[in-house]
Amino acid sequence: MAKKITLSIIKADIGSIGGHIKPSQKLLETVENHVKTKGKKLIIDWYVGHTGDDIAILSTHRKGPLAESIHKLCWKALLEGTKVAKKQGLYGAGQDLLKDTFSGNVKGMGPAVAELEFEERTAEPFLMFAADKTDPGAYSLPLYLAFADPMYNPGLMLSAPIKKGFKWVIMDVSYTKADKIITLVSPEESYDIAALLRDNSRFVVEGIYSRATGERVAAVSTTRLHNIAGRYVGKDDPVMLIRTQKNFPATGEILAPYTIGHYVSGFMRGSHTGPLLPVKKNSSISFFDGPPVVNCLAFCVKDGKLTEPADVFDHPYWDWVRNKVSQKAEEIRKQGFSGVAMLPMSELEYTGIVETLKKLEKKFKVRKK
Ligand code: 13P
Ligand code: 13P
Ligand code: MG
Ligand code: MG
Repeated sequence: MAKKITLSIIKADIGSIGGHIKPSQKLLETVENHVKTKGKKLIIDWYVGHTGDDIAILSTHRKGPLAESIHKLCWKALLEGTKVAKKQGLYGAGQDLLKDTFSGNVKGMGPAVAELEFEERTAEPFLMFAADKTDPGAYSLPLYLAFADPMYNPGLMLSAPIKKGFKWVIMDVSYTKADKIITLVSPEESYDIAALLRDNSRFVVEGIYSRATGERVAAVSTTRLHNIAGRYVGKDDPVMLIRTQKNFPATGEILAPYTIGHYVSGFMRGSHTGPLLPVKKNSSISFFDGPPVVNCLAFCVKDGKLTEPADVFDHPYWDWVRNKVSQKAEEIRKQGFSGVAMLPMSELEYTGIVETLKKLEKKFKVRKK
């Protein structure tokens, strides 16, 4: 049996130029240089890039998911980067590194993690997603449409293995004592899957598996930073890995739902609703600390060696989408703080508004009848 390969993304915001915009070149170089030099005997290949103010380290290796050596390598790279961020006076230096003591892997320490282990196919295409100014639930609708809806994925009708459907592992991220998960299958239980995934802040897809082969197709980071920190410290900014083609949805089927620019959480101070804008590689952040953005790079991997990335949202079609989605951003921004433009109290309770409401509560009077 061929040896399995592991793809690991470990991603964090460790400091940014001019607010929550983008990391400095020096910061990116420091992180990449650490991975390259210290990871020589550990990893086969790597890619380092940024989406808004978040730096993602993609590595390929044979150590399996949650491998201490790989997680430690990336954690140390992020610590080295943080030193540079402090030296340069970058904003939010070390923002997502919420714990000091490393105990086995970076889960629960702040960085977002997505990992896939598999036996390489003859040709092994996969997609690396990274989003900024949003939470892991931002991927729920696109995943549902790509894996369970023939309106977006004709492979569900046209390909025998894809038609067998998928197994979904969904996590209740509001439960913080341990991982609380449920396993459901599509198409039979797709209404139950929808019933959970409608709640982006609570139910998050952790993994999707092919029912034809049993292989894992997708891995999504499930980190909710406010659950670790107990207050608002920045948005989760999730990453995701998806294998594509043959027994899995085609790359284009996975991408199709990003044409919607659906409204997600995370615009300005992580407290507002905004449309998810598909952006090019290494894009920065601008309007109202947003809009929430998603970037996707396609790779092929052979014996752990990566090709150069293909920047899938760098295409004239997505320029049109970007204009359309920008209009959606403008429309919701017109209503400022009112109603659905801001997130519900369950999300805002990690911010300073709690103090204001407490103070005002004392001033309320109940009128005598
Ligand atoms: P500061 O209060 O640190 O300026 O944060 C505002 C902000 O950018 C929200 O993360
Ligand atoms: P990040 O989580 O990307 O640092 O954004 C924080 C924020 O609140 C921006 O307004
Ligand atoms: Mg930031
Ligand atoms: Mg960010």
